[in-house]
Amino acid sequence: MGKLIVMDHPLIQHKLTILRKKETSSKEFREVVSEISSYLGYEATKDLELEDINIETPLGKTVGKKISGKKIGIVPILRAGLGMVDGVVSVVPGARVGHIGMYRDPETLKPVTYYCKLPKDLKERNIILLDPMLATGGSLIEAISELKAQGARNIRSLNILAAPEGIKAVQEAHPDVDIYVAAVDKCLNEHGYIIPGLGDAGDRLFGTK
Ligand code: PRP
Ligand code: URA
Repeated sequence: MGKLIVMDHPLIQHKLTILRKKETSSKEFREVVSEISSYLGYEATKDLELEDINIETPLGKTVGKKISGKKIGIVPILRAGLGMVDGVVSVVPGARVGHIGMYRDPETLKPVTYYCKLPKDLKERNIILLDPMLATGGSLIEAISELKAQGARNIRSLNILAAPEGIKAVQEAHPDVDIYVAAVDKCLNEHGYIIPGLGDAGDRLFGTK
């Protein structure tokens, strides 16, 4: 079973409240999504492999550490996942960035994929999938299946808010994927929105309705 890591750090919980408040502007919403994403990115890269490297400080020789092993690929699920890219790239600036375009049909709540452009060497990379909202889990399950179909083997998901139903669905469909979240909310409403949630993340990020 994949791990669920809930980052209930005070700074994250404080910022999450800003995202939830309906009066928060798109500008502030974007800034805070980016900040929370950098914290999630920090946590999700905790197990990166290191190797020793001989270096010289101004005062002498020593052995330092350097990230080694697999490279990283960041994959936002469009649109809302785009809001998380800058924050995660600030932590791993050398990462390649792929994109999966997907929207949820409002009637069926099933994901519809309209775009997919991924780095070619997915097998050689640790993949960090980004989407602020994990609701029914349909979009994330589909995105992970597409990544695996194209060769990805090591995938983790960063989501700001998640519903228990979505977490369960993803863990059942892809038990090898760890999920990093800022909070787990109560439930979904009849339209598949997370309650209490923060509303429609894409609309709030980009000022659309
Ligand atoms: C939202 C969100 C996820 C999806 C989550 O996207 O960003 O991708 O819904 O729902 P699920 O877990 O039930 O699949 P939306 O369809 O609103 O598209 P957008 O990002 O283009 O706004
Ligand atoms: N997508 C969103 O943007 N918000 C939700 O609450 C659920 C899906």
